[in-house]
Amino acid sequence: MDIKHIAIFASGSGSNARKILEHFEERNDVEVAIIITNRKNAGVLSHASEFDIPSLRIDKSYFYNNDCILNVLKSEKIDLIVLAGFLWLIPAYLIAEYPDKIVNIHPALLPKYGGKGMYGHHVHEAVKANNESESGMTIHYVNEKFDDGGHIFQAKCIVSSLDSADDIAAKVLQLEHKHYAEVIDKVITTT
Ligand code: GAR
Repeated sequence: MDIKHIAIFASGSGSNARKILEHFEERNDVEVAIIITNRKNAGVLSHASEFDIPSLRIDKSYFYNNDCILNVLKSEKIDLIVLAGFLWLIPAYLIAEYPDKIVNIHPALLPKYGGKGMYGHHVHEAVKANNESESGMTIHYVNEKFDDGGHIFQAKCIVSSLDSADDIAAKVLQLEHKHYAEVIDKVITTT
């Protein structure tokens, strides 16, 4: 059987990465081959070692000034790059090499609350400040702009006027945990 390989790029606590690792743990047709991070103490590194997945820490010059990372991705036979809380803009050489093979999750209903500087709590604070009655998350293909590629899936949650930005964050994260791995599964097994 042809095994499909995923690379996860993550820099935060890695809770979405963990859900993805759990989802594919028992599978023999899809495997998470490597976890890549730009932060030394990223929570995702402990998930990687717990699940026995190789990890790699990169810095900006490695990522932007040359294409060394391509050698890593090629040697791991990566079919799909999954961004799970990875905040650096993806360089053009990587997008050219993996067209429609890089997906991202964003904690808002894009095109609202996307773009440079819109990540994590900044998003939820803006949603709160604008008295939105709903928020949610978007899974999308990655292009050369922040949060701009074609949408694959969105899920919504209700926001009440009593919700704090932290409450909104918790609701959105719950949606992310519920859907991201399933959507990745569909993308990687049907394309
Ligand atoms: C997630 O909420 C994800 O949507 C967000 O970072 C968080 C990572 O959480 N990504 C962005 O804001 C990208 N613009 P995690 O480390 O617990 O998975």
